[in-house]
Amino acid sequence: SSIMKDTDYRPNLHFTPEKNWMNDPNGMFYLNGVYHLFYQHYPEGNTWGPMHWGHATSKDMIAWNYESIALYPDEKGYIFSGNSVVDKNNTSGFGDGTETPIVALFTYHDPKGEKDGRDDYQTQGLAYSLDKGKTWTKYKNNPVIKNPGIKDFRDPNIIWNEAHKQWVLVLATYEKTMFFTSKNLIDWNHVSDFGEGIGAHGGVWECPDFIKMKVAGTDDEKWVLIQSLNPGAYNGGSGTQYFVGDFDGVKFTPEPYVNSLGEKHDFWIDFGKDNYAGVTWHNAPNGRTLFIGWMSNWEYANVVPTETWRSTSTIARELKLKKLDGKYRIFSSPVKELQNYIEKSISKEAIEVSNSEVILTKNEISLSKTEVSFEIPTLKNNDYKFLLTNAIGDSLTFGYDHSQKQFYIDRSKSGRVNFNEQFAEKTSIAPRISNEEKLKVTLLLDKTSIELFFDDGASVMTEIFFPKNPFQEFKALSNQSFYINNLNARELKL
Ligand code: FRU
Repeated sequence: SSIMKDTDYRPNLHFTPEKNWMNDPNGMFYLNGVYHLFYQHYPEGNTWGPMHWGHATSKDMIAWNYESIALYPDEKGYIFSGNSVVDKNNTSGFGDGTETPIVALFTYHDPKGEKDGRDDYQTQGLAYSLDKGKTWTKYKNNPVIKNPGIKDFRDPNIIWNEAHKQWVLVLATYEKTMFFTSKNLIDWNHVSDFGEGIGAHGGVWECPDFIKMKVAGTDDEKWVLIQSLNPGAYNGGSGTQYFVGDFDGVKFTPEPYVNSLGEKHDFWIDFGKDNYAGVTWHNAPNGRTLFIGWMSNWEYANVVPTETWRSTSTIARELKLKKLDGKYRIFSSPVKELQNYIEKSISKEAIEVSNSEVILTKNEISLSKTEVSFEIPTLKNNDYKFLLTNAIGDSLTFGYDHSQKQFYIDRSKSGRVNFNEQFAEKTSIAPRISNEEKLKVTLLLDKTSIELFFDDGASVMTEIFFPKNPFQEFKALSNQSFYINNLNARELKL
């Protein structure tokens, strides 16, 4: 069979730009039944360049429509990451009496300032929309937050703080998150900083998101700071950590155990290599926390073997906060809306694996647009290995290493890997957080990605790969016989 080329890699289930470059998701909001997604976009080229905000809309965060570019660079700079809010009470005064203003804050990155060796080349700009996000007007007195002389000073994200009746904005600087407050989205006061001596610091902090979440099964609420960094993630390169704590309107205080370092910081949205700069939807219905990330890593994002477009988003996910062994942890799962696209479904009971067993073949169900879930009833002292393979020898491996109590993905033989050294060599791992013996696994397969949700989403691993032929078999290997129970595979069609 012929070798897959660039265009054969266009995902079945995931968002990609129509053409050329994309990175971070930006400015996501929900209004009147429509989910808006903006994204870092360079419409003229397939590698990172002068940033715009691309735009797409969806009724369910799964099937997307392309919209025209929302924000273009101007004389103040490129349009870097940021977010937008639905200003229901017109606190900004941009409303015209009929339309609810949508207000976006983004970073202006002035390439000339950077070239001239200045430190203040990143500032925060504002734009608003009076037609539900379709077209945008940049505020005439931009920037709304000037740069005090800090090189990395970017990626504003805003939330309404009902208890103190004001807006709160988080902004990433090199090694910390800065907190600002405002009554009108225009005038901002710097009120506190977070980050010293806490969390992972192997690189630049970027793209924070500050949200309030219900603790599952209780009436309690906690504040969560999602904070990406690059490099320095759990498995190197780009990754997204989080902190759970309380907020008094000025200062964010994380749970005390978060600071007990010595052990590796293990509060990560995703332990795989390819979920970066993810943030949540503003104004999401029914109090849901809805998240999407950029499914790549700055280590190799510019050279992955898709030329027509570059980069894909993760599947949209719902985040839940649970208390487990005294610690608050985020659990992720694909949004339930994905289940509306099931085209075909097969189930298998009690598959005995002794040595090597084929679990699914492409004749039964596609292995590039399918969600599979199953359980392993007992882990004993065993290692579990799963493989996706094709006839020309490509294989993607993932599994559970019992002695290390770690999940892993190994894509070193998954097809095209030589475009970057780190892509080819690294195996990534995630610690097992749940103590329960039974292992539950859900995986979402697309042509070039796997999203693994272990233990109901307590540990997540997302990775991309580029096989030379589509995968044809899903197999299990073990040195000791075991059972796979309640296997269900759901082929999806958009
Ligand atoms: C994160 C990031 C942001 C920045 C944007 C530029 O991936 O570096 O910090 O705003 O990308 O495109």
